[in-house]
Amino acid sequence: MALLLGVNIDHVATLRNARGGKDPLLLQVALAVEDAGADSITMHLREDRRHIRDEDLFMLSPHLRTSINLEISALNEMVNVAGKLKPKSVCLVPERREEITTEGGLDVVCIYEKLAPIVEKLFQYEISVSLFIDPEEKQVLAAKRLEVNAVEFHTGKYANAQSASQKIVCFSHLSNMVKVASELGLTVNAGHGLTRFNVGKIASINLLNELNVGHSLVARSIMIGLPDAVREFRQIMLRGSV
Ligand code: PXP
Repeated sequence: MALLLGVNIDHVATLRNARGGKDPLLLQVALAVEDAGADSITMHLREDRRHIRDEDLFMLSPHLRTSINLEISALNEMVNVAGKLKPKSVCLVPERREEITTEGGLDVVCIYEKLAPIVEKLFQYEISVSLFIDPEEKQVLAAKRLEVNAVEFHTGKYANAQSASQKIVCFSHLSNMVKVASELGLTVNAGHGLTRFNVGKIASINLLNELNVGHSLVARSIMIGLPDAVREFRQIMLRGSV
């Protein structure tokens, strides 16, 4: 199966919110992203609603041809929103108010008991559940025990590795964990810090289902436009890289 591309449009909402109006129109942007070949639209409804707002989700949802991948923290308040929206998939992510972006994966081992009822509630809404985790075996095994559908590996460590040797270690660790998770029957996605310079390498990992890209794709769109930025990412993902 071809590797899918999920496009995170949180930063488009950040730009809109900067002036308090409606420009750029999120729906128009999401439709353009779909037209350019994205396979899903990712939106993170943060507890502080700093970018995506509840009404954005409900406004976009009926118009999309693809599906919403809703990122939320593991809180009942957020699960209730998911229950009303009924997106195809929810990705549970850690959230700290002071962070600029999602800085690491969920510690599923530590918060297993807290996650179990949240996952169960999402299943009752017939929503597919993914956990955003670091590529560590103990986290994969805990995710499997929770019987979630998918994991998304946080690729930040690989993306931020400073030296070539560090990159090699992070990459080999990531590919091993993709294999482990996949052999356990989990769907395996990845994302965070992916750019047009490193996405090809990550895309070369067999068994990955979807990559989620946000910041660098939206940033790139300032230079070449959003549809071309999406197409460019897709092409690099197809070609792969060494
Ligand atoms: N996947 C998840 C679960 C995320 O939380 C984020 C960041 O919001 C991304 C992917 C995209 O990361 P980036 O904006 O660095 O491409």
